[in-house]
Amino acid sequence: MIKKKIIIGNWKMNPLTLKEAEKLYGEVAAGVSRTKNTDIVICPPFLYLEKLTKIRTSKIKLGAQDAFAGDVGAFTGEVSSEMLYEIGARYVMLGHSEKRTLGESNIDVNKKLKGALASGLHPVLCVGETVRDENHGYFSLVKMQLEECLKGISKSSLSKIIIAYEPVWAISSTQNRKDATADDSREMAIFIRKILSDKFGKEAQSVKIIYGGSVNERDAEDFLSNGGVDGLLPGRASLDAKKFAKIVEICETLSR
Ligand code: PGA
Repeated sequence: MIKKKIIIGNWKMNPLTLKEAEKLYGEVAAGVSRTKNTDIVICPPFLYLEKLTKIRTSKIKLGAQDAFAGDVGAFTGEVSSEMLYEIGARYVMLGHSEKRTLGESNIDVNKKLKGALASGLHPVLCVGETVRDENHGYFSLVKMQLEECLKGISKSSLSKIIIAYEPVWAISSTQNRKDATADDSREMAIFIRKILSDKFGKEAQSVKIIYGGSVNERDAEDFLSNGGVDGLLPGRASLDAKKFAKIVEICETLSR
């Protein structure tokens, strides 16, 4: 099954001002304006989402970095998937390691994922181990993350879901981080595909699996060609319009 590749930029809590966010988004939009074969998503902080929907581009979809599981009600400080969809977001990242560090559990992610699907958003489910131990315990950890986060999800929803494999030890914000290789990515992508096939059967083929963890314009080609994935999730590199556009261009070239 040929799947359109996807590049998702995770801006995290950047940039500091709306003005800078609009400038960066405008530059990214200009840089990717000739894209044909790649889906492009930018996930800015909540606060900028609505303003960025006003910047004209037919190439980029917007995503949020989190969403609350419920819809309306007494949930101080939360933002629901329904609100995000209504404002123009079409994707939502869930279960990012930086949220899990703050206490988010697989059960929380599962509830959020169901809420996102019910609202029409594409969930980008982030999974990944903190360390790679010699006994390969990281496989069982990722398996558990997948099973618990996808509990009760119907086969018919699968084509909307993207799984992002993000080894925490390779993410740019991790202290003493190490580079992951395309082999690390491919090994886990195959494993994730197997878990999904065991659980859902052949419908699992429709799920996109992408890689994130300090991916940049220099190693994007290697990850896309040899990493067994359908796309990438750059964080730091997505804050530089030229670097991000270059990653998209590499993806385009490989998709031709
Ligand atoms: P990074 O971030 O590319 O800066 O490592 C990726 C992520 O955390 O999603």
